[in-house]
Amino acid sequence: MHARTPKNFVLEERLERYADAIELCPRAYAGRWAEACWPLVPEHAGAGASFERVVLDLGCGKGVFVCEAAAADPTSLYVALDAEPLCIAYAAQHVCEAQLPNVVVVPWDGARVTEVFAPGEVSRIHLNFPTPFPRKKEAHKRMTSAAQLMAYRQILAPGATLELRTDSEPLFAFTRAQLELAGYELLWLSDDLRAERPGGAGSEYERKLAAQGAKVHALCATPGPAPADFVEPAPESLMDYLPEDLTTMDLSYLPHGMAAGILNFRNRDLRRARKGQRG
Ligand SMILES: C[S@@+](CC[C@H](N)C(=O)[O-])C[C@H]1O[C@@H](n2cnc3c(N)ncnc32)[C@H](O)[C@@H]1O
Repeated sequence: MHARTPKNFVLEERLERYADAIELCPRAYAGRWAEACWPLVPEHAGAGASFERVVLDLGCGKGVFVCEAAAADPTSLYVALDAEPLCIAYAAQHVCEAQLPNVVVVPWDGARVTEVFAPGEVSRIHLNFPTPFPRKKEAHKRMTSAAQLMAYRQILAPGATLELRTDSEPLFAFTRAQLELAGYELLWLSDDLRAERPGGAGSEYERKLAAQGAKVHALCATPGPAPADFVEPAPESLMDYLPEDLTTMDLSYLPHGMAAGILNFRNRDLRRARKGQRG
């Protein structure tokens, strides 16, 4: 799922123009993000020398959520991380245009977060509409796999939280199972975040998919006692998390990135049902 490059958009030019908001050597900041990113501008002089906490927006996309959240929370440093250069360019542009001193945009693979944050350095991780990677062969790329969740445990501070939002019921169910395997405790859960907890920052995908009829499934979890004998589970397809019989499924909204697969499975079930009737 790659963002499309618009016409007349020269990526290198954009990255250079908004370079002030981008950190290309994030490993050098591990353990000192909050101090090192404290802005040397007059309005911050004397107000302390460090942000109070570090918040990670993992897979920040074009940075809509991180800019809104950071503007409302000036004492936290927001690290907006994404692996897609086009997203980095857009996110950095939004940060520069909004003149936010508490956001830094980092081009990095989320699978390697432990290289850029010290143990216990992060107070909250946001996973907004992570790419679902529904196929079994791509399962290792999911940002909510148990192996990833075990890695997040290393960088999360005591009492820190992980917040997930997704339009995908299968990804949501998969993630709940993976959280349990990785020893997380659920603090809250919603199957319709926008109705149950209105307000607050919203992400680009959240708005786009909600306009298409998506309900936002969301949860907040915190690491509980570490599992004594963690074994990485076998990779699973997200199709395994669909209802047994898809013939009666409500088709008014199909999760982003899974529509074709779901329709294929449903047609297969319908064919089987018809054959069964004839037999
Ligand atoms: C569906 S978009 C959601 C973007 C944004 N969070 C939102 O809610 O609008 C998923 C984002 O995750 C990023 N992503 C996927 N795999 C990643 C990885 N391994 N490391 C960092 N970012 C990743 C993609 O580049 C993309 O920007």
